[in-house]
Amino acid sequence: VHIDWDVSAAEKGGYQHFMAKEIMEQPKAVRDTISPRIQDGKIVLDKITLTAEQIKRFKKIYIVACGSAYHVGMIAKYVFEKFARIPVEVDVASEFRYRQPIMDDKVLVLVISQSGETADTLAALREAKNLGVRTLSIVNVVGSSIANDSDDVIYTWAGPEIAVATTKAYSTQLAVVYLLAIYFADKLGTITAEEYSSYISQLQSLPDKISEILANKEQIQYLASQFFNAKDVFFIGRNLDYAMSLEGSLKLKEISYIHSEAYAAGELKHGTISLVEDGTLVIALATQDALFDKMISNMKEVKARGAVVLGLTTKQNKKIEQVADYALYVPELCEMMLPSLAVVPLQLFAYYVASMKGCDIDKPRNLAKSVTVE
Ligand code: G6P
Repeated sequence: VHIDWDVSAAEKGGYQHFMAKEIMEQPKAVRDTISPRIQDGKIVLDKITLTAEQIKRFKKIYIVACGSAYHVGMIAKYVFEKFARIPVEVDVASEFRYRQPIMDDKVLVLVISQSGETADTLAALREAKNLGVRTLSIVNVVGSSIANDSDDVIYTWAGPEIAVATTKAYSTQLAVVYLLAIYFADKLGTITAEEYSSYISQLQSLPDKISEILANKEQIQYLASQFFNAKDVFFIGRNLDYAMSLEGSLKLKEISYIHSEAYAAGELKHGTISLVEDGTLVIALATQDALFDKMISNMKEVKARGAVVLGLTTKQNKKIEQVADYALYVPELCEMMLPSLAVVPLQLFAYYVASMKGCDIDKPRNLAKSVTVE
């Protein structure tokens, strides 16, 4: 008997692409990232040298990153401001490093990077360090330049990520953001003891809820089969859902080459809506209760111009079906953490669309896994 041994297929663990494998690994990656940091119902970041006194002195956090890590930063802004009540500014590294941001000893620079080698992110970190500013990084690759050069590092335990388009690194970065924001909030006294415990247990429920979504991946495969010929796709959302829209849009365009854009839903009327034609796909993210009705109005506006609307919300918002042509649901969870769930269908959608188009999913044209040039 002759058995063909394909090393690359073996590495993919039976999946056709690394991206599929990495999407499916997310429950484990998130669990591996969270569990060692929760002991007896408390968040323990024992490698972190930042003291509670130092955390109390921060008047501002600058978050600096590139690509999807920047999108994690955009979510982190909402999360830190809500939980820890510290103002946050988020910048792409290539902008931050050239704008002479105002930095002193009351500032924390939080850097997010999967590879730990992105040139602009590393340069921004070094710039902050030269000014004597405290730095903390969230990194996946142990011993990478960003990890080595930061005052403190919290590793995402995603394991090696091979596909150029990030999935499990993104999810674990988000998980660390939640850990860190809740940790800061506890030290600063901006959340109650009950909230602290509740957030921690919700964080611990993430891996199972992500698995629940992955178990229904065929539904998203079906939706992809309806839209893989799309020419333009628009993602809209508000606040956290706007940050999610940016990531959903990036995932789709980078691997499927479909033109796609993300807009803050309230900005639609200031120009973008003129691009909506008969049959244009609009993916509307509406996971936050307080903004749900506003999103319903935006969906009606684009539908009135001929758009086909795919709405994404939580299970309790079935009302979305009155407006959306297709609806996707994620499990219930505290709103700040819903991005960890909402991103999964968006990753799957991008993956299936690209796969139906026959694209080189793991190595999209013109892109590199780690951008080490400026
Ligand atoms: C590239 C990758 C993205 C990643 C970005 C930042 O563009 O394709 O997936 O988000 O670089 O990389 P980093 O390693 O710093 O997270």
